[in-house]
Amino acid sequence: MSTNPTHRGFTSNIGAILAAAGGAVGLGNIWRFPYMLGQNGGGAFLLVYIIFVLLIGIPLMMTEFIIGRRSQRNVVGAYRALSGPRKGWVLLGIFGIVSAFLIYAFYSVVAGWTLNYIVMAAGGKLSGLDPAAVAQEFSFFTQGSFWPLFYQLLFLILTGAVITMGVQKGIENMAKILMPILFLLLLLMCVRSLTLSGSHEGLRFLFEPDFSKLTGKGVLSALGQSFFSLSIGMGAMITYGSYIRKEDRLFKTSIWIALCDLIVAILAGVVIFPAVFAFGMDPASGPELVYVVLPNVFNNMPAGALFAVLFFLLLGIAALTSTISLLEIIVAFAVEELQWKRSTASLVSTAVVFVVGALCTLSFGPLQNFKIVGYTIFDLFDLITASYLMPIGALLMTIFLGWFYPKVEVKDELSNHGTLKVKAFELYYFILRYVAPAALIVIIISGIVG
Ligand code: PHE
Repeated sequence: MSTNPTHRGFTSNIGAILAAAGGAVGLGNIWRFPYMLGQNGGGAFLLVYIIFVLLIGIPLMMTEFIIGRRSQRNVVGAYRALSGPRKGWVLLGIFGIVSAFLIYAFYSVVAGWTLNYIVMAAGGKLSGLDPAAVAQEFSFFTQGSFWPLFYQLLFLILTGAVITMGVQKGIENMAKILMPILFLLLLLMCVRSLTLSGSHEGLRFLFEPDFSKLTGKGVLSALGQSFFSLSIGMGAMITYGSYIRKEDRLFKTSIWIALCDLIVAILAGVVIFPAVFAFGMDPASGPELVYVVLPNVFNNMPAGALFAVLFFLLLGIAALTSTISLLEIIVAFAVEELQWKRSTASLVSTAVVFVVGALCTLSFGPLQNFKIVGYTIFDLFDLITASYLMPIGALLMTIFLGWFYPKVEVKDELSNHGTLKVKAFELYYFILRYVAPAALIVIIISGIVG
């Protein structure tokens, strides 16, 4: 069981960090985080979010890395390998695969939008429009069928191509190229946004907590957002963890990745909110926030057309390194558990995701009145995965590693077989066993009760 010829991992620690940070940093940071924060009152949401990332996010990311690296397996294989005779835990792996499918289905819709917006911005189609016309362009595009489906498929194919190239040549190399570009673009956008006149109001909204604006649902959203953004609770980091070299430090690696993710989310807020306020737009406008607000900003600044292209490129790059990690969860499972060829696995998964994902795309247009418990298919997939499946998956995972898996083995993996001193081990283990599950139970239940 312990050697697996299909298993070839990341070549260096920095490669692992960039690949996993690429998986974590995505639309979740630049598209979802700002609009969630905008809808949940600003600064207070940010504060709760930061607490969740540091207190629960980092330990849970370490937990996934431990499970992945210990087992050297995909998410299903990992639970099978580590659970011994208690076969039921394999279901938790399958739960992860299902979550990955659902996330990929709606995520690829928004990822596809970035391609359309790069093309529109580059062709000057967004320049010179007034805010109403920008909003209209967005509805016109997203309510259509052909183009949004076309771009979604294009994005899925792009992702599939990278995954077919393999872990080192595809995932790791892509991350090494794309992540530095992403950071540079983001910093450039920050400078631009901060030099807009009237930017301080947006910064106040982002950084000054007003707890009267935060509801119980808002707290659940912050938790869901931290899981979504760190890709925790469904096996992405188990899969990538299985590619981390035996000599790398899981503690340090997790902290780097989580900090990268947090910083990108905050910087995205710094790019977006000053602009939102400077141009009198509504921060609570929801999923279209970056698509209907930012083009106005670009229209009102020097070299705006260029910045528009750069921004949507940034968004597209962030999305790509994440869709790569989503597809890898599924493909690693198909390759290792079902013995499929990597290329076949990519192709088949991509096709299946496209069928389900198309329903999400169409839920902005032809299917916009088709609602399940009051939500469109797109909104439902987003809500179910981030607010329920990921926290529930994470809860079960903490129970598995904290209560069923032997403590000595956990310590052995985290300390690289005792060769490292892990001073914070007891703290980590305490969070794993008590703090994280308790917090998760309270938040999941309060979210369900409302
Ligand atoms: N973390 C990614 C983002 O922020 C989304 C994601 C979730 C990717 C789960 C993989 C797994 O965009």
